[in-house]
Amino acid sequence: METIAFFNLKGGVGKTTSAVNIAWHAANEGIPTLLWDLDPQGAASWLLDSKAKSKAQPKKILNGKTPIGNLVKPTNYQHLDIIPADFSIRDLEQQLQLQSEQGQRNLIAKLIEPFSENYALIILDCPPSFSLLSEQIFDTADALYLPLIPTHLSLRTFEQTRDFFKKNKLKPKRLHAFFTMVDRRRSLHRLMLAHPPKMLKNGLPTPIPYAAVVERMGDHQAPLPAFDRNAHVSKAYASLWQDIKATLSDF
Ligand SMILES: Nc1ncnc2c1ncn2[C@@H]1O[C@H](COP(=O)(O)OP(=O)(O)OP(=O)(O)O)[C@@H](O)[C@H]1O
Ligand SMILES: [Mg+2]
Repeated sequence: METIAFFNLKGGVGKTTSAVNIAWHAANEGIPTLLWDLDPQGAASWLLDSKAKSKAQPKKILNGKTPIGNLVKPTNYQHLDIIPADFSIRDLEQQLQLQSEQGQRNLIAKLIEPFSENYALIILDCPPSFSLLSEQIFDTADALYLPLIPTHLSLRTFEQTRDFFKKNKLKPKRLHAFFTMVDRRRSLHRLMLAHPPKMLKNGLPTPIPYAAVVERMGDHQAPLPAFDRNAHVSKAYASLWQDIKATLSDF
């Protein structure tokens, strides 16, 4: 089983859009995939037309009394399941705090462990912040993918994440940036794509273009290939999935 995360300190850069489309591509290849929506905004859950089970009791799951599998829901797509954004993130953060004060090991890793029986790929859609949750995700994920709009400020947030990894002895090689919302009419975008900064040396080669059709995922509550497989941006996501696979040893 591989665990991957879409992360960026910056909000609104395409983490969720990417997580949902990549999850679709993995599942479409027959890879048993679980997307865990860890963002209280619940955008990934919404885009996959999924609501949390009302009877699930997150607190019992966090303290190990109920199996986390109870939170899993199927999606409209074969081989793709989801844990909708059901956890009150406050409960989760509180529990993480408590357990780490007691010197217990990474709770996120512990919660994910049992999924190895049923899934080959776990995809985490992260909220845009540094927190105990993100630290545990950094520690747990085999690889992290960071969508970057080609601007200087986005590069700075990438640098901050990379520096955090270095300072905390986490392997920065697991960080893979990729360009999103690329608008080739803009000279800075063209320049950065032609000459990617050195710090992006582990980056993924496929850029995701800016395209209005991406917004329509919200109208359809579906991943791009489910309603417009031939759009340029849909093909870019198919290619990005190939890039991601190349970074993972299991596939
Ligand atoms: N390639 C793209 N072209 C055009 N619009 C896009 C593209 N990718 C994402 N968007 C739009 O940008 C907005 C933000 O995208 P998304 O929710 O995926 O970002 P995010 O990084 O997950 O945000 P947050 O930090 O709030 O979780 C959405 O409205 C989405 O439809
Ligand atoms: Mg998001």
